[in-house]
Amino acid sequence: MKIDSVTSSYRRWAPVYDLTFGRITSAGRRRAAQHVTARGGRALEVGVGTGLVLPLYGSTVSVTGIDFSTDMLQKARTKVSEMNLRHVQELRQMDARTLDFPDGSFDTVVATHVLSVVPEPERVLAEMARVCRPGGQIVIVNHFSAEGGALRRIERMAAPLEDHLGWQSNFPITRVLGNPLLREVERDRLPPLGMMTWLVMERIASA
Ligand SMILES: C[S@@+](CC[C@H](N)C(=O)[O-])C[C@H]1O[C@@H](n2cnc3c(N)ncnc32)[C@H](O)[C@@H]1O
Repeated sequence: MKIDSVTSSYRRWAPVYDLTFGRITSAGRRRAAQHVTARGGRALEVGVGTGLVLPLYGSTVSVTGIDFSTDMLQKARTKVSEMNLRHVQELRQMDARTLDFPDGSFDTVVATHVLSVVPEPERVLAEMARVCRPGGQIVIVNHFSAEGGALRRIERMAAPLEDHLGWQSNFPITRVLGNPLLREVERDRLPPLGMMTWLVMERIASA
C-alpha cells in the first residue's frame, strides 16, 4: 500500500464506508470500545477513519483520533459534533508512521482494521508501542491471511489490487508479532465468520 493510494482509495470509501465495510465488521469495534472503556484513561485511535468506534466509548476514557485521510476524518468530525461526544479530546490528520506525540502518552492504543491498510505496518506498530506507556496495551482488530484453503487462494489472487481496494488481503499475523516491546496477552476470532482477529498486546518496559 502506498500513502498516495490511502488518500485516493479512502476518498472513494468515505461516503459509503459506514454502510458497507463498516456495517459487517461492527463486532470488533464494539469489543474494542468495551475493552478500552473498562481500562479508562487516555486512548489513541490510530486510523480512526469515519469514527465508527467513537460513540461506543464510555466517559471513563479520553480519546484522541488520528487518520491520514482528510475525507475519512471529516466524517468522524461530523459524528463528534452531531452526537456531542465529549470524551473525544481531539481528531488530527497525521501519518501513523510518524506519530506526533511524546513517548508513553497513552494508556491504550487502538487500531481497528488499520494495520493491513497502512504502508509499513511494522513501523506503525513501533510508533504505537512508543506512544503507549509501559504497562499499557495495544488493541488490534484486523483480518490476517488465512493459513490455507480457498480463502488463502482468493487472498493471494486479490493481492495485486491492494492499492485500488485500500487494504492488503495477503497479510499474515506474523507481521505484527515481532515487536520486541510488545507481549501478546489475548487473541481470539471475531465475526464475520471468524475472519477477523482480536489481538491485545502489553507494552513492556524495555526489550
Ligand atoms: C479500513 S479503515 C478503518 C477505519 C476505522 N479504524 C474503522 O474501524 O472503521 C483504515 C483507515 O486507516 C487510515 N490510514 C491508512 N494509512 C494511514 C496512515 N499511514 N496514517 C494514518 N491513517 C492511515 C485510512 O485513511 C482509513 O481511514
